[in-house]
Amino acid sequence: MVSNMRMVDLIEKKRDGKELSKEEIQFIIKGYTDGSIPDYQMSAWTMAVYFQGMTESERAELTMAMVHSGDTIDLSAINGVKVDKHSTGGVGDTTTLVLGPLVAAVGVPVAKMSGRGLGHTGGTIDKLEAVEGFHVEIENEEFIRLVNENKIAVIGQSGNLTPADKKLYSLRDVTATVNSIPLIASSIMSKKIAAGADAIVLDVKTGAGAFMKTLDDSRDLAQAMVNIGNNVGRKTMAIISDMSQPLGFAIGNALEVKEAIDTLKGEGPEDLTELCLALGSNMVLLAGKASSAEEARKMLIEVMENGKALESFKTFLSAQGGDASVIDQPEKLPQAKYTFELEAKEDGYVSEIVADEIGTAAMLLGAGRATKESEIDLAVGLMLRKKIGDEVKKGESLVTIYANSNDVEDVKDKLYSNIKVSKEKVDAPKLVHEEVHFQK
Ligand code: URA
Ligand code: CA
Repeated sequence: MVSNMRMVDLIEKKRDGKELSKEEIQFIIKGYTDGSIPDYQMSAWTMAVYFQGMTESERAELTMAMVHSGDTIDLSAINGVKVDKHSTGGVGDTTTLVLGPLVAAVGVPVAKMSGRGLGHTGGTIDKLEAVEGFHVEIENEEFIRLVNENKIAVIGQSGNLTPADKKLYSLRDVTATVNSIPLIASSIMSKKIAAGADAIVLDVKTGAGAFMKTLDDSRDLAQAMVNIGNNVGRKTMAIISDMSQPLGFAIGNALEVKEAIDTLKGEGPEDLTELCLALGSNMVLLAGKASSAEEARKMLIEVMENGKALESFKTFLSAQGGDASVIDQPEKLPQAKYTFELEAKEDGYVSEIVADEIGTAAMLLGAGRATKESEIDLAVGLMLRKKIGDEVKKGESLVTIYANSNDVEDVKDKLYSNIKVSKEKVDAPKLVHEEVHFQK
């Protein structure tokens, strides 16, 4: 394309609060990806976006320009509506492990591309690798065949998805422009769309352990993503859920696999089960497999109760080389050498469990990666014995620590300073705050 566009003019235009056209946004993203637009001009542009914001049409164009900056995954050979779920990050969030087999069991195709984790605990792939033999290194054709046959498969991240986003995200990180709703929303949505999703259910976390700390900010981010999705032809909705404390009880890879097994049997923690039903029923609805969220929820509860959800997890694990006997014998999962109880120092009610700090404590045990190069220990982690609002007696366990070292004093200190017990009764926080739908 011969173009007489100049980046300096586009920076000026955004600086002055004017709307950029589709061609202008494509020029910026293409030029930044191929290196013809330097970091210093892109930094000035992102700062202009930070202050001036972006219109609905600019957000949609930016998202699609990033989608087309690299490879896109073609899932058209898979029958049915491919619904993906994305969570804006949390601590001990076992939902992905549960949701895949759960919605697959009612016929929703789950073609999941997943990554490894950094920080807190592992990513979905790390967790699944706690099952002996399980692997995600499969060919595309095999991946598609498995989804058509079993309704669920997971593949590792391909190398060249949304390179523009990778480069831009690193730049934003060092130019104080991460925290811009249009930039966050287009970054997240571009990755989901490039990975082949026809429809998307978003789980936007709110609270102390989340990226967005207040309900207002979480709602704005959710609405921005939902509108982008719908404006580019992908049915998208969001649920805003609480992350003021970790979800479920387990934080750690093998522990979370065990928790997922329990939840698929309908015997999991109440909050994790509820969130999986809320997200799952919307996935079923967007996939066109039910006519109302209530009907979808009933279908999901049924497969939890009749064993089909667990069966779907087994089939999925063995199809990718995993030893599915762990489902009936979870003691075959990696086991930590030592356990320690964190005993309450006084009577009262649990009033605070600072999610991200609890995640860091699990990382100190080895459950997460401090750097990309760290090895993770699949066996270690934490099991919360109390959640916010629970009554506790002095000497009762607040947390069980699963460790492969017998010196966990620093972990205990971190836990004690981040789990508060108060004399007054405390209410359990609301789990699902609200749903967000498309608004023109
Ligand atoms: N997560 C992303 O993927 N992108 C952002 O910009 C922020 C959080
Ligand atoms: Ca959990």
